[in-house]
Amino acid sequence: MERTFAIIKPDAVERKLAGKIIDRIEASGFTIVGMKKIKLNKEQAGGFYCVHRERPFFNDLCDFMSRSPVIVLCLEKENAIADWRKLMGATNPANAEPGTIRRDFAVSLNENSAHGSDAPETAAFEIPYFFSALELV
Ligand code: RTP
Ligand code: MG
Repeated sequence: MERTFAIIKPDAVERKLAGKIIDRIEASGFTIVGMKKIKLNKEQAGGFYCVHRERPFFNDLCDFMSRSPVIVLCLEKENAIADWRKLMGATNPANAEPGTIRRDFAVSLNENSAHGSDAPETAAFEIPYFFSALELV
């Protein structure tokens, strides 16, 4: 079993797409081991995306991620990291496969509805950034 970290981003929560996305998560065999709705401030968003702090899109990314609430999830499944990335689809929804969350729901490259850990080391940083051990069941 493997765990990954997911965010339903502000654009999707604002448009009341969280239920549809959670339905796809469960229908794809993931177990939700942690889930909560939170509102990040800009500093918290920047800490989460700190690997991108030198990138030109960093400021816009932090503004977007702190604009309104998000739903954070810890998901468990065999091959969870790769399978959640596959279910989300490519970063740019224009390049995402039909049937993926980003293809079906995302607004743009910047407002792309979902986040997923991209490697075991990333998941190991991201899960405890948001969840205590007691919150993972
Ligand atoms: P995420 O971390 O949110 O799951 O997205 P990702 O792995 O597919 O993409 P990543 O390279 O980690 O980029 C993080 C987020 O920054 C925005 N982005 N903008 N303007 C640009 O060139 C650009 N590149 C990336 C996207 O919203 C992406 O989800
Ligand atoms: Mg990423």
